[in-house]
Amino acid sequence: MNELEGVEVSEAQIAVHWREEEKFYPPAQFIAQANITDHEIYERFSLKNFPECYKEYADLLTWYQYWHTTLDTSDAPCWKWFVGGKINASYNCVDRHLPQYKNKAAIIHVPEPEDEPHVVLTYQELYVRVNEVAALLRDFAGVRAGDRVTLHLPMVPELPITMLACARLGAIHSVVFGGFSGKACGERIADSGSRVLITMDGYYRSRKLLDHKSKSDTALAVAKEEGQAVDKVLVWRRHRGTYVSPAPMVAGRDYLMEDVLGDYVGTRVDPVPMPAEAPLFLMYTSGTTGRPKGCQHSTGGYLAYAAGTSKYVQDIHPEDVYWCMADIGWITGHSYIVYGPLALAATTVMYEGVPTCTDAGRPWRIAERLAVNTFHTAPTTIRMLRKAGPEEPGKYSYQFKHMTTVGEPIEPEIWRWYYYVVGKGTAVIVDTWWQTETGGFLCSTMPAIQPMKPGSAGPGVPGIYPVIFDEDGSEVEIGSGRAGNICIRNPWPGAFQTIWGDRERYVSTYYAKYCRDRNSVDWRDWPYFAGDAATQSEDGYFRILGRVDDVINVAGHRLGTKELESASLDVSEVAEAAVVPVTDEIKGRVPDVYVSLRPGVEPSEAIGNAVAKSIETSIGKIARPKHVYIVPDMPKTRSGKIMRRVLAAISNGRDIGDVTTLANPEIVDEIRRMVQG
Ligand code: WTA
Repeated sequence: MNELEGVEVSEAQIAVHWREEEKFYPPAQFIAQANITDHEIYERFSLKNFPECYKEYADLLTWYQYWHTTLDTSDAPCWKWFVGGKINASYNCVDRHLPQYKNKAAIIHVPEPEDEPHVVLTYQELYVRVNEVAALLRDFAGVRAGDRVTLHLPMVPELPITMLACARLGAIHSVVFGGFSGKACGERIADSGSRVLITMDGYYRSRKLLDHKSKSDTALAVAKEEGQAVDKVLVWRRHRGTYVSPAPMVAGRDYLMEDVLGDYVGTRVDPVPMPAEAPLFLMYTSGTTGRPKGCQHSTGGYLAYAAGTSKYVQDIHPEDVYWCMADIGWITGHSYIVYGPLALAATTVMYEGVPTCTDAGRPWRIAERLAVNTFHTAPTTIRMLRKAGPEEPGKYSYQFKHMTTVGEPIEPEIWRWYYYVVGKGTAVIVDTWWQTETGGFLCSTMPAIQPMKPGSAGPGVPGIYPVIFDEDGSEVEIGSGRAGNICIRNPWPGAFQTIWGDRERYVSTYYAKYCRDRNSVDWRDWPYFAGDAATQSEDGYFRILGRVDDVINVAGHRLGTKELESASLDVSEVAEAAVVPVTDEIKGRVPDVYVSLRPGVEPSEAIGNAVAKSIETSIGKIARPKHVYIVPDMPKTRSGKIMRRVLAAISNGRDIGDVTTLANPEIVDEIRRMVQG
């Protein structure tokens, strides 16, 4: 925020003037079958019933031992839910469904190559495979309750199987998105202190069989540098019997899962009853500084919240075929591909590859073939599919009843295509706003209860009380048209417990800003600061405008500007780097990189390419910059801070505003000429 010193107000304070969009009402046939059709749910989840209201979500689960305290605030703001309760997540997602559903599909995996058969795991088969992997992890890899295990896996059935195997043992999984680089994986291994890495030889993406195993060698080297030794690398194979990676298997360290599993055929492992507040997993996400944050999620609270929101907001029934096109390597996949749907005994579909492989009709063919009735994706995918095949959905005879959009703001025009063309005008849409940190949805309409409004997420979901504060902590009035920082007044069971190993950063990033009393153990004194700007209209609906911190939301994925800047600085010719978000037709936002060079170094295309390459190797292809601009100097404040805001205005062709207070105002025109021609 200090970068804006004396120049402008913050992003969150700019008044916005949206056109009010028309409302769309849920179709009668949707309401007729919905899990929740009664407004009374808001009464049940009213603040006067808080926190006991969340018993309703916890009661969707099977407990070994019921809790004695619903919410313990004594260690504020590290909230503890369902204290005294004992539960196992793997048992809740698998075992308990066997009596009724053992022959029902739990997971349907759709490989990217269209001629490769689907993998259908019934609940019984999932049970068998989870047990065998759990036995291997326990007896071969020595994994115990509380140990962290890093999974660097693509979208294959082995990913949820391995997650559930960890959960069965009470081990904490840390899934690293498959597209991340070996370096990014290594940093996460080190931060979490994992001794075991589970990876795969390769996987399909855009019709290519990519090598993946090689990344584990980089990952282990990076982890070692940071002081973390990994003693076992367990390698799944994409095709049984063939190893597709050029990377050698290291003797005594790397083991093929297929080989070792032979010893555990038919083995059963009793699920370990875990305290409700024991961590279930870590999920790393980008923040303001370079180092990613390991968001620590609980077992009982998280699972209750994932199950409750899956039932009421996603409207999942056991009979549904539910397809969320996210990657399990992100929080959306954890909560709404794996834990939520499986806790409810639904059939969850996972797709390996890119949505347009081999053409823009692919998702709709999958939906038709599997009779998917509940569909979930992100605006970036919707924009891509609309561009590549605007008429495609109409050619297939699938029928959705419910659709979700998540991850970034959706433009009303794109929303309408989703509604009329993808949903054929008969499916309800929920625009769900939430974060890695929050475990589950925060704002959304309840699909059978409230009308939809294109571009607006809706009100807080039951039990969530959002509020918009200005910079000084005053509430921004509803319907004022003014934006501010959206916060949540109250804790909820899905909220992360802390940042792994860094409570101080947890408190300062999420709770310090609007805390009324640092010593208070009353939750009312600790609003949760989400880091997004938002407005609230007269009808109570929230419209999310985007991040207020140094995070760029690229195609729905969070990247820290500092991570990209530090990768740019790895190129030895680079003296300074600044990364800003630039609008992109498909991906929403992408990074533009500005670098200045060390004295005496001549700008060249090679340096620009080296910067782009360094970002790819250090983070992954998703972070690839749109442009790398080599500038003579950065626009700076008198105190020497780089004015990223000015660079962002240039990149996006926006008004730059008053720059006369800068230390070097003349540079602005020079950079603008360079970028805009
Ligand atoms: C953004 C993804 C507008 C927001 C679940 C948030 C959204 C960040 C929406 C979290 C939405 C998420 N409308 N913006 N419906 N959903 N966002 O941690 O900026 O990957 O802070 O979690 O995505 O991204 P994350």
